[in-house]
Amino acid sequence: MDFSNTLIRQLIQLLNQKTPYTDTALAHQLGITQSVILQYLHILQNVGLDIHLVSDHTYQLKQPIRLCDTQLITKYWPDYLKNKVALKAHFSVSSTNDEIKKMNMMKPIKVCVSDHQTAGRGCQGRSWISSLGSGIYYSYAYQRKNNSATLAGLSLTVGLALIKTLLQFNISDLSLKWPNDVLWQSKKIAGVLIELTGDIKQDYHLVIGIGLNLCLSPKSHQALNSLASDLYRITGKMIDKNKLISEITIQLYDHLSKFDRMGFSYFTDDWNQYDAYRDQLVVFHVGSKKYQGIGIGVNNTGHFLLSTDHQNRVSFPSGEIQVKSSAERWCSRPESNR
Ligand code: BTN
Repeated sequence: MDFSNTLIRQLIQLLNQKTPYTDTALAHQLGITQSVILQYLHILQNVGLDIHLVSDHTYQLKQPIRLCDTQLITKYWPDYLKNKVALKAHFSVSSTNDEIKKMNMMKPIKVCVSDHQTAGRGCQGRSWISSLGSGIYYSYAYQRKNNSATLAGLSLTVGLALIKTLLQFNISDLSLKWPNDVLWQSKKIAGVLIELTGDIKQDYHLVIGIGLNLCLSPKSHQALNSLASDLYRITGKMIDKNKLISEITIQLYDHLSKFDRMGFSYFTDDWNQYDAYRDQLVVFHVGSKKYQGIGIGVNNTGHFLLSTDHQNRVSFPSGEIQVKSSAERWCSRPESNR
């Protein structure tokens, strides 16, 4: 099925309505046969839509969903952003991080969003659950000159931009898990996957992929062992996805401009205020090596700092953190949303 098909978008808009539609009425509205409608409904269910059979042959979405809409996203942008950012919204792509690399537009910054991903990628080769309506799948790309500040601390800066976005929507109890994750009460709600194309010694392109959980299905939530949460579970309401995408872009632009000029040190204190593992006993994994100690924040290059048993302070440029008490959770992590 061609998901760029506007019919699919129209079908979702009809299923979103307060009054449920019969398959015959849907077919009539869209000018297609009832059997095609049934095929579409089946496919939409397979990509994650919770379609409720209200009564015989009558359908409605259990939870109305908003589709990405370029007009609604850019509506809230200041003029400087409209001039600088080329935005593309898709219904379904394999991965927005891949799709953005194909975008050929004249503006310095590209943003690509999709309502669904068929092959969403997380960090360390994990997958990212990307069902329709359950999250924001977002990529931001721009060319970076090799004389800009170092890349150290970039993913931390992006995490901070996401925190600032969510604060605008009155979401509190947020923290940052070094280096990539945004947590709410210790549960992961967003992750960042940064990729680089071109030659780092010359000018290169940065692709910053962001996955933010909006409303995980009960099945996905269970599959993530309840170690993840989403904005619907946190706030009890569906936050306007287009407004969120708009604000993410505003905050990213602001944070990345500062990062490119001044490096991570500009954000160190701010980041440390949201550090999920401050003063906690953690095990830091670097390859097959493990280091135990108390998390004491990050330094000016964004390296994670651990105070070890011997009162030494060790800094780590890369690795993964495990809270001491959650050893058994660590075992298998097929998806990265947690
Ligand atoms: C993580 O493992 O925490 C990073 C998850 C990043 C997921 C996002 S969704 C949009 C973009 N496209 C992808 O395939 N991955 C990133």
